[in-house]
Amino acid sequence: MSPSIHIDPARHVAPVDPRIYSGFTEHMGRCIYGGIYDPDNVNGLVDTNGFRTDVLDALKELKVPVVRYPGGNFVSSYRWQDGIGPRENRPRRPELAWLTEESNQFGTDEFIQWCRLLGAEPYICLNMGTGTLEDALAWLEYCNSSANTHYANLRRKNGHADPYGVKYWSLGNEVWGPWQVGQMNAEDYSKKAYQWAKALRLLDPSIQVISCGETGFADWDRITLKTLAPVVDMHSIHLYTVSQGNHDVNVMGPAAAEKGIEISKALIELAKIEAGIDKEITVCFDEWNVWDPVRAPGEKGAEEHYDLSDALAVASWLNVFVRKADVVKMACIAQSVNVISPIITSPTGLFKQTTYYPLHLFATLMQGTSLSLHISAPDPESDTYTGPTVPTFVANLAKHTPPASLPTKWIDISGVLSPSGQEIRVALVNRHKTTAWDVPIIFGPNAEVGSKVTVHEVWSADLGERNGFTEGEKVRTVVREEEWKGVYHAKAHSFQVLVFTLV
Ligand code: AHR
Repeated sequence: MSPSIHIDPARHVAPVDPRIYSGFTEHMGRCIYGGIYDPDNVNGLVDTNGFRTDVLDALKELKVPVVRYPGGNFVSSYRWQDGIGPRENRPRRPELAWLTEESNQFGTDEFIQWCRLLGAEPYICLNMGTGTLEDALAWLEYCNSSANTHYANLRRKNGHADPYGVKYWSLGNEVWGPWQVGQMNAEDYSKKAYQWAKALRLLDPSIQVISCGETGFADWDRITLKTLAPVVDMHSIHLYTVSQGNHDVNVMGPAAAEKGIEISKALIELAKIEAGIDKEITVCFDEWNVWDPVRAPGEKGAEEHYDLSDALAVASWLNVFVRKADVVKMACIAQSVNVISPIITSPTGLFKQTTYYPLHLFATLMQGTSLSLHISAPDPESDTYTGPTVPTFVANLAKHTPPASLPTKWIDISGVLSPSGQEIRVALVNRHKTTAWDVPIIFGPNAEVGSKVTVHEVWSADLGERNGFTEGEKVRTVVREEEWKGVYHAKAHSFQVLVFTLV
């Protein structure tokens, strides 16, 4: 029996924060060099700064509101002062996260300038590995201070009179991970991060400080939130999902992220009660994606070549963020270019991966107010996933796995009331490999929709279809209008955003 969807436009969850469609650029593989910055490009693809204009255009289409930088694991041995000032004086350094060399030809000033061109807000992750609090304060002063002090004057000397006003600063990256330079236990991290947050806020009280969490369902999250709740605005969590060669596992994986968000929300509430504080602390899911590091190792640049199954997984990820709009206020896809990314460049151009298209549809259409949709499950045999354990993969070594079984359905949905209040948009993934469903969509009690629905569909008959330089963009959005008679025919393994007009 087919599942049915019930939509009441009065059942608001929360406004969808546009920052859930944010990006992440790390000094890793070809993300920065050869991705966003390609000064030696001889094919007319760069501006006078050496920035790839085709990449900027593709990211502008995604309306990326915030970009996290410069890592990731990279930041934990990064000396930010190597990356400013005249380029010929910038030192080359050994790089300990991905075991390469860092030329420092792209640094803080270039990143800010690139963000301005993109129209995105910069978000800086601080080095809590080899970096000191003094370095962190100097970085903040360099970026944000208008005072007559050393680092603010150094910024001016480098040609940037006005402060950058970088609003988002996070306290280290995956400090819990054995792969991290400067790994700490939760207690040591919390003590240190508390003092950093305090000092950073003294220098610039206007910033938003973000704690380094784990998956949201780890003990690390509980312990760090308990200490850091009074001094942070957001708690960052990370998760990557992976197919293990199995489509069902691939598309159901984001259920682990949803569980992590729910647990984080509860841990935030608990920490606030224990600290006796009443302020907003939200979740910043600042690394997420489909990534199999065996297939695409970080040391080799992590260039995943995604197929349609991965695009459906990415759509399921984004449904999670829209459904959890009450607590997830920022999410950064890892990463924005080349490295586990929806965009792949070559010296002569770029192509958009299958995963680009769901991201684009969400960023452009799934804005407004998140609605609490109901999807019926009359027959668990037919519409609820009962396959292998829902997987999780936390980069490199997972210490914690989510509960073995999570409730998941073949039809995965989220919905919004558009910013104008005139449309209802439903993002619907039919995750089933072979079964198409005729899905009744019932509006009410006091809502009626027009006689047509606009369908923005991402689909191919071949679930393994990929886009590429030679293949072209076989998987992309196709838009059509259909007569609306109350039932939507969702093809097997398809993603679509349905746009209904309220009448
Ligand atoms: O995004 C790739 C890497 O995954 C990041 O550097 C790190 O934070 C995570 O382990």
